[in-house]
Amino acid sequence: MKAKKGFSKLSKQEKINWLSQHYFSDIDTANKLLKQYWNTDEKLQKLHDEFTENTITNYYLPYGIAPNFLINNKLFTIPMAIEESSVVAAASNAAKFWLDKGGFHTKVLGTEKVGQIHFTYTGKKQDLEDFFQQQQAYFKDSLTEITKNMQKRGGGINQISLVDKTSELEHYYQLHVTFETLDAMGANFINTCLEKLAKTFKETAINKQLCSKNNSLEIIMSILSNYVPNCLVRAEVAHPADKLLPNPEDSIKFAHKFIEAVKIAEIEPYRAVTHNKGIMNGIDAVVLATGNDFRAVEAGVHAYAARNGKYSSLTTAKIENNVFYFSIEIPLALGTVGGLTSLHPLVKFSLEMLGNPNAKELMQVIAVAGLAQNFAAVKSLTTTGIQEGHMKMHLLNILNQFEATKQEKLAITTLFKDKTVSHSGVVEALEKLRNENI
Ligand code: MEV
Repeated sequence: MKAKKGFSKLSKQEKINWLSQHYFSDIDTANKLLKQYWNTDEKLQKLHDEFTENTITNYYLPYGIAPNFLINNKLFTIPMAIEESSVVAAASNAAKFWLDKGGFHTKVLGTEKVGQIHFTYTGKKQDLEDFFQQQQAYFKDSLTEITKNMQKRGGGINQISLVDKTSELEHYYQLHVTFETLDAMGANFINTCLEKLAKTFKETAINKQLCSKNNSLEIIMSILSNYVPNCLVRAEVAHPADKLLPNPEDSIKFAHKFIEAVKIAEIEPYRAVTHNKGIMNGIDAVVLATGNDFRAVEAGVHAYAARNGKYSSLTTAKIENNVFYFSIEIPLALGTVGGLTSLHPLVKFSLEMLGNPNAKELMQVIAVAGLAQNFAAVKSLTTTGIQEGHMKMHLLNILNQFEATKQEKLAITTLFKDKTVSHSGVVEALEKLRNENI
């Protein structure tokens, strides 16, 4: 097969034809499948086609809702886009568990975003520092054209600092820039500011003769950082340790075992990764449903989990004065304006469901989704084990895989109501049912 040049210029149908011919033995089935996932509403389909390049179809994820989340004394129903069968059920269970125990309490601890201009300078450090001190105000002013609207709303650039990284990499310095981007995630705003600043910085360095033949200053790149340790939110639940479960003795035992499980995730990276993965089940699902950038959130959150030099749990648990406390602290750079938020109909729908939150409010809802998910997972793990609930939810996937009819689904789910679900057990039961009905 030859490489295809100018692929992006082909029409959608031409792209599908090319793909089907080159990669699929059954061209018609491949064609049919792709079209099955198109939306019949042409305008809606066109909107999705234009989100990215070379779109040939849509990729569906289930969109579920988890009701009964009491957050700062207000009830929320949380939208979740996720394929893993037990996640929405687990979130709903955790929401219900905490509903009559005061619910979740949250606080935004900071909203600072970060961008950096990475450059090399071969001259004397002192000359660079003097130059930066003299020009700092000018650099900030030179961005007014881009920042003025954001500034009017109370945002903009907070600070520009020069950072010497030469002890780690020869000649390497940074301009480390902090931003307030209010309700926008701010990626475009930050990157536009940085690229303009880098240009001004270089031009001024030439004009002011900071660079010469022997002292070169080279901009390597200008880009936002997805590590935002000062764009931080905290969520917490608290309740008397002997009143978490109906029986006080069981309750205290449960609380201690739960705390031990969280402590294990604090000190053991193998466990911490899975512990945090469970948290991200909740976080990513809401991040996706609200049209935010889950890769950015993932990258930032995991970096934060390793901030002390060792990958650790994002949640902590303790008993103090007989009260059980369970909390999370995570960096979340989110937007409720810009990006997909006003474009994708389901994103608009999600935001409306959440009461059209601003970015700070959304940070709090999403932190709660992460904490709730972790509570549900650790509760299952330290009591019944995770497979019971997980496989119950997975049962339908197994039945669908074997194209079970409505009657078969009913018969098998009834059969497994009080039994442990396993893949082989379900297949066996289905075969038996089918043989009996021949
Ligand atoms: C599965 O998606 C997530 C869990 O493994 C999380 C955990 O172990 O805490 C259940």
